[in-house]
Amino acid sequence: MASRASHSSSANSVQPWDAFDTGWYLTHNYGTLRDDDQEIIHRTGDHFAATCGGAGRGIDVGTGANLYPALTMLPYCEELTLSDRASSNVDWLRREVMDYSALWDRYWAELAGKGRYSPVVDPRAALARVATVRQGDIFRLPAARWDIGTMFFVAESLSSERAEFELAVAKFVCCLVPGAPFAAAFMAHSHGYLVGDRTFPAVAIGVDDVARSLEGIAHNVHITKIATTAPLRQGYDGMILVLGHAGATAPGGGAPMKIQPRQQLLDIWQATVRASFQDGKWSWGGRNRTNSISDAEQLLSILLPATEISFFQLEQPNETADDVLAALRGLGDAVEVPQVLVRVITDYMERYTDASGTPTFAGDTYFRCAENDGDPTAAQASIDVADSFAMSVTLSLATMSFVRGFRRRSAARACARRSTVLRRWRASGSAPPWSGCCAVSRSA
Ligand SMILES: C[S@@+](CC[C@H](N)C(=O)[O-])C[C@H]1O[C@@H](n2cnc3c(N)ncnc32)[C@H](O)[C@@H]1O
Repeated sequence: MASRASHSSSANSVQPWDAFDTGWYLTHNYGTLRDDDQEIIHRTGDHFAATCGGAGRGIDVGTGANLYPALTMLPYCEELTLSDRASSNVDWLRREVMDYSALWDRYWAELAGKGRYSPVVDPRAALARVATVRQGDIFRLPAARWDIGTMFFVAESLSSERAEFELAVAKFVCCLVPGAPFAAAFMAHSHGYLVGDRTFPAVAIGVDDVARSLEGIAHNVHITKIATTAPLRQGYDGMILVLGHAGATAPGGGAPMKIQPRQQLLDIWQATVRASFQDGKWSWGGRNRTNSISDAEQLLSILLPATEISFFQLEQPNETADDVLAALRGLGDAVEVPQVLVRVITDYMERYTDASGTPTFAGDTYFRCAENDGDPTAAQASIDVADSFAMSVTLSLATMSFVRGFRRRSAARACARRSTVLRRWRASGSAPPWSGCCAVSRSA
């Protein structure tokens, strides 16, 4: 849990997580069992006992130096992932899960008397058997992978950016399969916290913020403000515990499982692919037949969500969500989709480059004659139009973001080489050297 108050305003990615003082945090926060943690353990244990089926895959996100969330999941997991960004925490966890210290016996004792927990006669050995510690980033969690999950004092304690709090909650809940039970705890109205001699930022959230962050992605949600007789520190206003289930509604409940904006985007992707890609070939031509603006819009309808919203990422095949892949099935499998997109982007860049290698911004079929709504003359069609510049900037930024992620995959070396050339070409204005090798057809 987060410790003493101090404030700094910056994103999660720039915090010194690897300098997180695990020993200090452990002693300060968990050296003795607090009354608020005790209540959280009981409520969480009862929630899981009432809702969990057989053995499955569990995850605790942002484990830090706290093993009690993992203990609450122990009877229900044949695999239990403990994930944290800080290398100091990960190093400690890798040692600790092998044979956890006596400190945690007091925490297990709170659970041991409950029906579903009593059969676990040797929790120390059980944790060593099922636990895997991974260094990982909450913002890169894959979707729908785990059957049960916990996230304690993490989403609000990552940075001072509210958007990161909301995204972290969403990433956590969406990494669980629909219907999976979860428990999440938050420090209320925290102004930041001290760990050893370093301060880490926080977002000052309350019960309403937590409720809002779960709207449309979780159901059967119970939010409890946990009271304490002795606050851990200054600069916060108690703890908040959330118990619930992943997914907008229970599986089979009749209502749609997906939050609507997500599902609508997937529907748009599916329709775009159906209209644009047949027999392994991309057909250009958006709402005004093929031209630099309409073609860019056509491509951006896939590329923008893929680069702007982490749920829709396509560059890392092993992290692409199943429903995303289903929507883009017409383009291929998880490995093929980014390859096809790089080829289509390349084709676009070639189409709108003249013989000297200079990008072109002609309006072409985007223009209509004012008098008779007919096609423009060749001279009119070749006139540059600001819309084309604007779409080109948007497309280039999305392309750079996409190929940057894609290049991380060593398996995609051939396409990555092409992406490198493509980026350099956009930067320099020189002619693309792979002319003629692109497999994408041109319909115009
Ligand atoms: C306030 S501590 C909470 C630790 C622990 N869960 C607890 O209950 O005390 C926040 C934790 O989030 C981890 N963290 C920070 N950024 C992260 C990220 N992007 N992905 C995953 N974990 C992160 C930190 O390393 C730290 O362990």
